[in-house]
Order: sequence, then C-alpha cells, then structure tokens
Amino acid sequence: MCGIIGYYGQHPASKILIDGLKRLEYRGYDSSGLCLVEDNKLVCYKQAGPVTYLEGAIAHQDLKGHIGIAHTRWATHGAPNEINAHPHFDCHHQIAIVHNGIIENYQALKQLLSSEGHVFTSETDSEVLAHLIEKFYTGSLEEAVIKALALIEGSYGLVALHVNENKLVAARRSSPLVIGIGQGETFIASDVPAILNHTKDVVYLEDGDLAIIDEGGYQIKNLAGEPLDRRVEEVKLNIDQIEKKGYKHFMLKEIFEQPQSLVNVLAGRITNNQIKLSLNWHREAIERIIIAACGTSWHSALIGKYLLEEIVGLPVEVDYASEFRYRHPLVNNHDLFIAISQSGETADTLAALREAKNHGAQSLGIVNVVGSTVAREVDSGIYLHAGPEIGVASTKAFTAQITALLLLAFYWRQEMGYKIDESILSELRHLPAVVEKTLKANGQVIELARRFMNFEHFLYLGRGLNFPVALEGALKLKEISYIHAEGYPAAEIKHGPIALIDDNMPVVVLATKNDLSDKILSNIQEIKARGGQVIAIVDQDYEVVKKLADYLISVPPVHVWFSPVINVIPLQLLAYYIADAKGLDVDKPRNLAKSVTVE
Ligand code: G6P
Repeated sequence: MCGIIGYYGQHPASKILIDGLKRLEYRGYDSSGLCLVEDNKLVCYKQAGPVTYLEGAIAHQDLKGHIGIAHTRWATHGAPNEINAHPHFDCHHQIAIVHNGIIENYQALKQLLSSEGHVFTSETDSEVLAHLIEKFYTGSLEEAVIKALALIEGSYGLVALHVNENKLVAARRSSPLVIGIGQGETFIASDVPAILNHTKDVVYLEDGDLAIIDEGGYQIKNLAGEPLDRRVEEVKLNIDQIEKKGYKHFMLKEIFEQPQSLVNVLAGRITNNQIKLSLNWHREAIERIIIAACGTSWHSALIGKYLLEEIVGLPVEVDYASEFRYRHPLVNNHDLFIAISQSGETADTLAALREAKNHGAQSLGIVNVVGSTVAREVDSGIYLHAGPEIGVASTKAFTAQITALLLLAFYWRQEMGYKIDESILSELRHLPAVVEKTLKANGQVIELARRFMNFEHFLYLGRGLNFPVALEGALKLKEISYIHAEGYPAAEIKHGPIALIDDNMPVVVLATKNDLSDKILSNIQEIKARGGQVIAIVDQDYEVVKKLADYLISVPPVHVWFSPVINVIPLQLLAYYIADAKGLDVDKPRNLAKSVTVE
C-alpha cells in the first residue's frame, strides 16, 4: 500500500512523477504529494484525494526541478488529509521523505524527538523518519539515513532527499522498491508500472538494501555502507498491458481478459497428456499441506483445499495469513506451505511464509507478479502469468489461481503414479474457451444488475467447491458497490441467516449440477418458503432449478472441479454492473488498496 516514485535525470521531474503516481494509484489514493529540488530549495505540493487533484494543483506552476520524489497514500496512521499526505519534512524543510510501510515504534521515537525539540506537523508514523534523519544529519544524507534506520522497528520502502545534496537515498525493508535504469536518468518506484514508460531495465531491491541515486546512476549498499551487486533484469511487461484499452474500467477489462489469462497459466504446462511443472520439492516427505493467503487469494486457497484433498489425498489446512503468523502454528518439515498472492507483496502472506519456513516447512508460491518478494522467497513456484491486475477488486488473478491449483493437484497425482483422465485434461485445456462463452452471456447479468442495484443486503450460497465461490461473489459485491453481502455454505443458513430472509434479501445460489445438487435444491425450497428472491447460477440444462428460482443466470456445464472458474464469472459481472450502475468508482473503491503491504 502507498505508491512511491522518485526521479533523477535531465528532464523536469514533475510530469514523470505525476504519471508514475497515476500508475501506482492501485496501491492507495487517499492523498498524494510531490517534492522537487529547485535552486537549493524544496518545492512541494500535497493534496487530499486522488492524484488528479495533485495534477490540477501543479498544472499552472512552472516546475523545473530534475530531482524529485512523490507518493500516493493509503492512510494507516492519521486521517487521509493534506497534512498527513507525503512527502514529510524535517523541522527546517531541508529533508523530504516518502515512505511506504509502518514504523511500529514511532510513538517512542516521536516522544524522544519531541523532547529534543523536533516539531511534528502530521499525525503519521512516517514523519519520524524525516526528523530522525535530521537528527543524524551532519552533511551526508546517506549516513543519516543509515543511522536513522538503525532505530526503526517496522517496515519501510523509503526515499529521501536533502536540499543540499543532488541525490536520492532509498531503503527497503518489507516494502518493495525497484530501480529503473534509463539513459542518463534513474527512477525508483514501488512497482514497475510506474516507470514502464521510460525503461524496462530494472533492479529489485532486497530487504536491507540501501540505494543511492545520483548523476552517476545508482549504487546499492547494505546498511553497513558496503557495496552490493544486484542483477539488472529486463521487464517483460508492455505498456499496453497496463492501459484500459477502451474498457470503462480496469476491472471490466480484467474480467474480459480471463480467457487469455487462463491460456497463459496453462501455456506449456500440459503436453502429451502430461502436466509439466518444475517444482523444487521433496514430495515424498510431505504429509500435510498448509495454505495461507488474504482476501480473494484466501478464497482460492479454500478451493485449493477441496481440490487437493480430493485429488491428492493429503490433509489441507487453510489459514488467513494474518492469523497463521501469530497463532504459534505447529509446522514441521513434513509440511508443504503454499502462499497464494496475486501481488506477491502482501505483508501478512509474506510473514506467514517466513514463519512456516522458519519451522522447516517446504514452500511453494502461487503468485502473479514476477520477481515479487513471495516469488523470490519460496522454494518453488507457479507463476500465473495473468498479466498486470490493476482493478482493486481481484478477478483474473482469482480464476488463474484456481487453475494453477488444478494444475498442481493433477501434477501431484500424476507424480504419485496415477494417470489423469483424458477427458479431464481436455476440459482443462478448453477452460479458456468455456470462460469466453460464459462472458458472452453477460447481457443476462446486466439486466439483473439494474433490477437489484438498490437492494441493501445480499446473501450468496454455495456448497462444496462452490462455497468459496459464494464467499468471493459476496466479497466482490461489498468491496466495489458497498452493498452488504455475506457468503455462506448453503446448509448453514438454517443456523442463523435464514432469519434474515424476506423479499428484501436477494439470495444468489450457486446451483450448477453436481453431487450436491439435491441438497442445494432443498436449500432453495427453504428460501422460497420464506418469501426470499432467488437468483440461481445454473447449468444450461438444469430444468429443476429453472422452475424453482426467480431469476436465472445460465453458465455452460463443466466438471465440478472446474465449476469455480466458470461460476465466479457471473458473480464478478453482477458486482461490476451493480457498482457501475450506482455510479461508483469501480477501480478505486473507498478505503481499499490493491496491494496490502502493511499488516
Ligand atoms: C487486497 C486486494 C484484494 C486481494 C488481497 C490479497 O485486499 O484488494 O484484491 O485479494 O489484497 O492480495 P494478494 O496480492 O496477496 O493476492
């Protein structure tokens, strides 16, 4: 959360910084700010609200500075207003910093610094960094940053500048930073899209790295000031992959990209009726699987539990990463720990992974962002190759994650000496085409969205593999349309939620045909008997449900193992079209951020 960009080069920095911030808004958009060095002065602007407000504020300024830093914020400490917006400053306005992460001991530091006469202007934890650097500054920004960081507990992606030094000093601990190498110019940012317009040559900083960016380019050191060698990598991403390409919102584009993202996740992984994965593991030693994740990725993890238990035959535990890391989990070297994360940077997922590895577990990552921290810290991984996901509400990463879990389950079973049915492999290969067909039927969803957009509560029900899909459908609706929605295992409604049912509570039921269909039918009867309105997701040929439900969304029939990938699509669309009909900013839902790099 929070996006950072810094620039050192020959061009005026302000436009480059603003454009970069716009590409980072998925990380937060509560407020933004920038600071340039001009004629030995800091020239700074801040605004509450999205980056366009900051852009407006500087539109008529003649900003010439060639060195600068900028930040888009997702508030943790302090209200999302202009005062708390970054950059933050020392007492004499000579040092400016932008920070992503949380300074856990900021209160103690603030007290110490205040007692020494430092005057704070914001409510943020980040401001202590500026004053700490000021405290230690005796002519070298680099040295002052090193001394300041020695006192910091918590996480940081930090970029600092000093009015008298032509350089940027950056440091990373648990908050990503990447250096972009241009022709006579150098960039630093939280993520590659911010700099992709300018360069594809990047260096990812590691935890504990310090970077100095100046007219000589960049140097990377450790916090003892010793030089480090980090590899220059070429980014494979193209700029058009991070544009809306005519879609009204990134979320809609990403929903419609799912056939392609599934092609990508499957590419090269099924040949001659064999699943090919390259995993660095000791399979025979594994007696249990633990999956930890957050948000939508946690829903994939739950689907993974059903799939892996049934297909591989090992017990699977699923945890919220934030719970796993603090509950003293009993993990040992017979466990395989799977971290699922679109971004590969979610703080809790990363911490859970480190905890599991410390206990000796083998580790595997299911990650979308190439080169992200989770991807770099796991023993083996399955990249999703779903392309950049920019809409805050995750869509294509979810279906790609399920597909990766299917690949893992089939691969594992194959490694155990079993053959996977050709019909199953054929369905897997055709999954992108079935998703395409499902998307083409979006007209039925648009109509339902108009009909139901003003309801205040929704229930989503599913059983078995489709219970996590119900959770995901409810999450999509609440996060972008602000309508209260809950997902439940269908049978559980008798233990409470059925009391809520009346004709003001639409109930979305995942009722595609499978072993549990009869049970779902009974659940629908129970809802109808209480006057509830049922929107059923059904296979095209499932006549019984068609007669019972009030509204139908038909999807193509598939084997139950593939049904979460297909069934979630109308739920993504329903949430999208409702939020859009309400006139909401779908890609930037209030209070949320795409990448949660604080715990
Ligand atoms: C945030 C995002 C969600 C995402 C979750 C986990 O809450 O808004 O869309 O599912 O983080 O993120 P990850 O990158 O670890 O999958």
